[in-house]
Amino acid sequence: MGIYLDYNATTPLDPRVLEVMLPYLQTIHGNASSVHHFGRRVRTAIDHAREQVANLVNAHPSNIIFTSSGTEANNLALKGTACHAEVGRLMISRIEHASLYTPALSLERQGWIVDYLPVDNTGRVKQDYLTIPPDTRLVSVMTANNETGVIQPIADIAEYCRTHNIVFHTDASQAIGKIPVDFTATGANLMTLSGHKFYAPLGSGALITDKTTLLEPLLHGGGQEKGLRGGTENVAAIVGLGKAAELATDELEKRQRHTRQLRDTLETLLHTLSSVNIFAESVERLPNTLMISVAGFTGETILMGLDRLGFAVSSGSACHSEKTEPSHVLMAMGIDATTAKSAIRISLGNQNTPEDIQQFYQALKQQIEQTQLLMALG
Ligand SMILES: Cc1ncc(COP(=O)(O)O)c(C=O)c1O
Repeated sequence: MGIYLDYNATTPLDPRVLEVMLPYLQTIHGNASSVHHFGRRVRTAIDHAREQVANLVNAHPSNIIFTSSGTEANNLALKGTACHAEVGRLMISRIEHASLYTPALSLERQGWIVDYLPVDNTGRVKQDYLTIPPDTRLVSVMTANNETGVIQPIADIAEYCRTHNIVFHTDASQAIGKIPVDFTATGANLMTLSGHKFYAPLGSGALITDKTTLLEPLLHGGGQEKGLRGGTENVAAIVGLGKAAELATDELEKRQRHTRQLRDTLETLLHTLSSVNIFAESVERLPNTLMISVAGFTGETILMGLDRLGFAVSSGSACHSEKTEPSHVLMAMGIDATTAKSAIRISLGNQNTPEDIQQFYQALKQQIEQTQLLMALG
């Protein structure tokens, strides 16, 4: 099957998660809104999952709104807040995920002014947030970046926003389950979570809310999720999300240690390859994430070459209309387009082993050397 090194794209479903989900796909059925005992049984399961998710991020169960994904939670945070405010200004960082910056662009089309917080050459949001225009209604900065893994000064930004009466949202999709994330201590008003980044099923997520922030639902319906997310609950996905959250709470330290050791070993090995550059090496990053560039290659070429050898990584660039664009994250860091286009991301997880790292290193080295030889031969 090959070696999977793309956990930031999605994690495999944990078998222990699948086990608790299966009864809700096979034998236990019911609509959580029904008052009879079929309904009450699934309602109890959802309530339990809400507690498990709340526990993972130190929130109250009533703070959790289940959604279909991190994308939906990001949309709800931005558009749901904007609906309750006069058209005005909002601010996002330059390195947000598409599921955050595209709703911001959509609000821009509706008349909102969108300001962008720059990042420095290590990928950290600059202290410019201290000069957020006073009429800003909402600020959104991710907790950790999906490409570089760089962890952002979220608590400081939240504090600034609180004292200036600005709603603060953070997309914690990549951080939750990888590093400790404390909703209450962070002081954010809204926080996004995506289940399939920590071994829960695809299509599960949540928006965590402080409940004082007014939100307009994206999906109006039968009053589910306190009226903030209509639609009959996907019980199996929610139960799976709850179990994955419980496991992430219990195993967080072990998971961090495991991936950090592997990542550090890989970094040490990569230092021996002169054409490899490691991004954001000097700053605090997610323990599982490593973004590199390989001089003389494009990320796509390396990715395809590694794929043929059985390794799954991700390239830093995104394909839009058949054109390969360099990563907006690296561009925001001031990296030149050629280097940015030569980037690949390696993101590690529970199932990776020291052997995976050695084999990956050998494969990358071989690929670089072969290409260099071919080029030297003309
Ligand atoms: C930082 C970040 N936010 C949001 C998302 C979207 O989450 P989902 O896939 O659950 O919609 C992703 C997924 O890659 C992500 O990396």
